[in-house]
Amino acid sequence: VDAILGALREAIEIRFTVKTRIGFHSAEVFDELLPIFARHSLDLLTVHARTVEQLYRLPVHYDYIARAAAALPCPVLANGNVYSPDQALSVLAATGARGWMIGRGAIRNPWLFTQIRQRLRGQPVRLPTGREVLAYICALWETMCEPCAQPASQVQRMKKFINFIGEGVGPAPGFLHEIRRVALPAEFFRVCEAWLEHDQFMNLEPNPAPGSGVAA
Ligand SMILES: Cc1cc2nc3c(=O)[nH]c(=O)nc-3n(C[C@H](O)[C@H](O)[C@H](O)COP(=O)(O)O)c2cc1C
Repeated sequence: VDAILGALREAIEIRFTVKTRIGFHSAEVFDELLPIFARHSLDLLTVHARTVEQLYRLPVHYDYIARAAAALPCPVLANGNVYSPDQALSVLAATGARGWMIGRGAIRNPWLFTQIRQRLRGQPVRLPTGREVLAYICALWETMCEPCAQPASQVQRMKKFINFIGEGVGPAPGFLHEIRRVALPAEFFRVCEAWLEHDQFMNLEPNPAPGSGVAA
């Protein structure tokens, strides 16, 4: 890591941003990584606070993000399972990070960025309605659509994203159970409409809730 970061720092003239997990097999290595990150004058570090072996399993070890934020001169972004405006603010308070990188939470709830801004400004957080979520899925379908793809393979492509979105469509596991079993576009949209053609507000938080992940 030291050699790679050293070579990159020398080679690039634009901002040098790095993203890291907290270790491969175990997080013990993290204390060795911090001085390496400090040595190479990073412009920004994002910490996905899981080991590689941990894949996407909980818990996210936000305390390691706090250690990076305290130890490094550059801004640190918190990454890993950020899923709601309240929990995003808890993660920031607990870690001292400068902001967030949001992956699956943004696919599940693309309103999350606006909602976090609303929460930061002390404004009411606006939730999307079922119909708005349905319109988002339709827009995602159009974006993902490859003109020459077979209809069934288009459905398969969408399932990668629907797996994240579906965690926020409750009560579990109804929607996910049904959508994982569809094969053709007509069935796909029939299930989406059955669950989402309504005007109720949806918080799109993972269902069941994983907890904030931040120790009280
Ligand atoms: C569809 C998808 C694509 C991703 N692609 C990348 C990538 O190209 N590079 C990367 O460093 N991480 C990638 N990630 C990992 C995310 O950046 C992030 O570290 C991880 O999903 C944990 O954050 P989350 O819990 O907010 O999803 C990807 C994640 C997802 C779900």
